[in-house]
Amino acid sequence: MKTLTVALPGREYDILIERGLLSQAGARVRAVLPKASKLAVVTDSNVEPLHSKPLLDSLTAAGFEVRLFVVPAGEKSKNASQLSQLWEGFMEFGLTRTDGVAALGGGVVGDLAGFAAAAILRGVAFVQIPTTLLAQVDSSVGGKVAIDLKAGKNLAGAFYQPRLVLMDPDVLNTLDLPQFMEGMAEVVKYGCIWDADFFDFLTARPSKPELMADIEHILYTCCDIKRQVVMEDELDTGLRMILNFGHTLGHAYELAGHYTEWSHGEAVAAGMCAAAKLGVALGITPADIPERLENVVASLGLPTSISCAMDGYAAAIGLDKKGAGADITLILLDRMGHAVLHQIAKSDLLKLL
Ligand code: GLY
Repeated sequence: MKTLTVALPGREYDILIERGLLSQAGARVRAVLPKASKLAVVTDSNVEPLHSKPLLDSLTAAGFEVRLFVVPAGEKSKNASQLSQLWEGFMEFGLTRTDGVAALGGGVVGDLAGFAAAAILRGVAFVQIPTTLLAQVDSSVGGKVAIDLKAGKNLAGAFYQPRLVLMDPDVLNTLDLPQFMEGMAEVVKYGCIWDADFFDFLTARPSKPELMADIEHILYTCCDIKRQVVMEDELDTGLRMILNFGHTLGHAYELAGHYTEWSHGEAVAAGMCAAAKLGVALGITPADIPERLENVVASLGLPTSISCAMDGYAAAIGLDKKGAGADITLILLDRMGHAVLHQIAKSDLLKLL
């Protein structure tokens, strides 16, 4: 078992990584929720038939009364109506303040269930059990929970740290290749912003079987980096922004593709490649980095560039909105394995693009 501790004052929690952990989850959850009797498990219609049974059996064996709440798979479920249905369901189940909510699924389920847990009864204990690579290396750690609004993604939310994160690498076997590689975009990001050796390690393993052979090390390394960043800047006012490397331009690509043409990971992959070139143009990023990054991204079957019209970029950086700030913070690499925040006028950024 690999264990990492996110040591936030008064809200310390462990991330546990082990193959087969899903069927041992009951004892692990019981250890952090000794007094709970009920557990609301939120999952989605894709994950439920694949992974809910071993989890529910294990939780029941640990003495929890469990109720499963299944939401339709997909980003569309991250909305206020689904949130309110969960809250009504939790109350109908008889959840009390000493009970808990667990999220079994990818980022959508984790964000939705986490926000539901953060506000029901003014906050009940929350456990993350991520089932996608993207959720394991990013969204399940660090406490960002949210739903989408008509005005944009993740606009209503909270910082609400889980009490435990359980990662079973075996669940990644059920992901198809595009889903797995989407998560790899975020994995590559950690190498770029924090750990050049890890970037080289990934460069040498371009296929899913090679990556799965070392998946515990990959999950541990990514979560260790995220843990350190979150411990330094939980509320995202400084260092945590480096986790957005590739995300500003990635957001433009997602928007341009109406959130259907490109997955988040594909958009981030192309966004990182574009950010590397921008960094070179601004004299911050060494000239060899774009090609190194493009080689890894391409070897994983992810896009190295996505076309986007100028009004798409303007919308993504908020230049089309009256009253939005004139500057934007770009995340750039000043060397492989290290990111810096770079303030730039939005109008100058648009000219560079
Ligand atoms: N996904 C970026 C963050 O947690 O800050």
